[in-house]
Amino acid sequence: MESLKHVAIIMDGNGRWAQKQRKERTVGHYFGSENVREIALKALDLGIEAITLYAFSTENWKRPQKEIDYLMKLPAVFFERFLKELNEKGIQIRTIGDLSMMPEKTRKVMENAVEKTKDNKALVLNFALNYGSRDEIVRATRKIIQDGLTEITEEVFESYLDTATMPAVDLLIRTGGDKRLSNYLLWQLAYAELIFVDEEWPQFGPEQFESCIEAYHKRQRRFGGL
Ligand code: FPP
Repeated sequence: MESLKHVAIIMDGNGRWAQKQRKERTVGHYFGSENVREIALKALDLGIEAITLYAFSTENWKRPQKEIDYLMKLPAVFFERFLKELNEKGIQIRTIGDLSMMPEKTRKVMENAVEKTKDNKALVLNFALNYGSRDEIVRATRKIIQDGLTEITEEVFESYLDTATMPAVDLLIRTGGDKRLSNYLLWQLAYAELIFVDEEWPQFGPEQFESCIEAYHKRQRRFGGL
């Protein structure tokens, strides 16, 4: 059986899910954030070490201001409801992405969750916020230049990425039917297994998550070897 430490997820389809029910797109994001809790608890159950969720991309700033405002408020709503429980269950909250561009309130909410849970060991629940893979690679390169490095190996480069302290991504799941990577973890997904499902994120439940994990375990990873 292939080892599985780190699952990355593109939580797509919130807006479409809501619109199908004649609700506002933001309603989809609300139920999507509830599903984050469900999937995190399932991942914990399954003994996965880390999940990294695409919560807001560098391209999402192009959305209508009302939707952006809502998405910026969602972490506060989410952690108000679930931080205590997640903390008690030993879940460690982390973030990747350029949080310096987020509204201060949103950044503080995230920093507080990270700080409160930093010693937890059961599961890393990592939120990608204002994250874009190209942006991450450019930021890493800038830091390497600032540090005056001349000897650059893959290991050195990797240590400058936002995911430096995380295990390699083994599996990417994208919900919502589209089959693309949307500037997500391009370096980290080099050898990951990819699973695309049609269900929109709010209706992608823990059982289906478990089925994806089972499907992953049936695959044979060769990492370019035989
Ligand atoms: C993509 O669906 C989803 C997002 C841009 C936001 C995802 C965010 C969450 C589920 C909440 C995260 C929770 C916290 C606590 C930060 P879409 O709107 O692009 O869906 P569509 O393709 O149907 O339009």
